Amino acid sequence: MKTMNKPVLVTYATRAGATAEIAAAIAETLAARGCTVDVKLLKEKPKLDGYAAVVLGSAIRMGAWLPEAVDFVKANQAALNSLPVALFTVHMLNTGDDETSRTARAAYLNAVRPLLNTAEAVYFEGKMDFSRLSFLDKVIAKMVKAVEADHRDWGQIKQWAGALWS
Ligand SMILES: Cc1cc2nc3c(=O)[nH]c(=O)nc-3n(C[C@H](O)[C@H](O)[C@H](O)COP(=O)(O)O)c2cc1C
Repeated sequence: MKTMNKPVLVTYATRAGATAEIAAAIAETLAARGCTVDVKLLKEKPKLDGYAAVVLGSAIRMGAWLPEAVDFVKANQAALNSLPVALFTVHMLNTGDDETSRTARAAYLNAVRPLLNTAEAVYFEGKMDFSRLSFLDKVIAKMVKAVEADHRDWGQIKQWAGALWS
């Protein structure tokens, strides 16, 4: 990436914090490339004015991006389509290289993909930490026999952020 003279926004939606740590690693990598970076929660509805580019990410719950992430894309579709945008999705299931997994994880973006025609998109494996879940999420996680694990691949995350828009 040519060093951008305007800042880059890294904005994300999380429930249990795994996506926040991934957003921080992306921001660190971009900063190491000479970018000025702001990191903001999508819940805070960040303004897009003045940014050179946007990295937009969400954790997956029940097969979809979190509602505040979908709402943000809907509310800012025109502005997002006029900027370089990269999407990252954090999830635990459908991680294989086979067609079934690829189709299933592509469907996680069904609500946002058609609105952002040019954005590039990546999938990162996340983390399941029962101690960070709400009571209801814990019940659901146990019901679907989820196991605690941290599958985040920091090398993959940093490599992706290091190569963005280059
Ligand atoms: C209630 C619940 C539902 C989930 N549903 C899915 C899902 O449908 N597909 C998937 O791949 N991962 C699913 N996950 C895994 C999360 O996407 C993963 O743990 C992610 O790292 C959470 O990010 P966060 O810590 O930023 O909230 C689910 C996790 C929970 C707790």
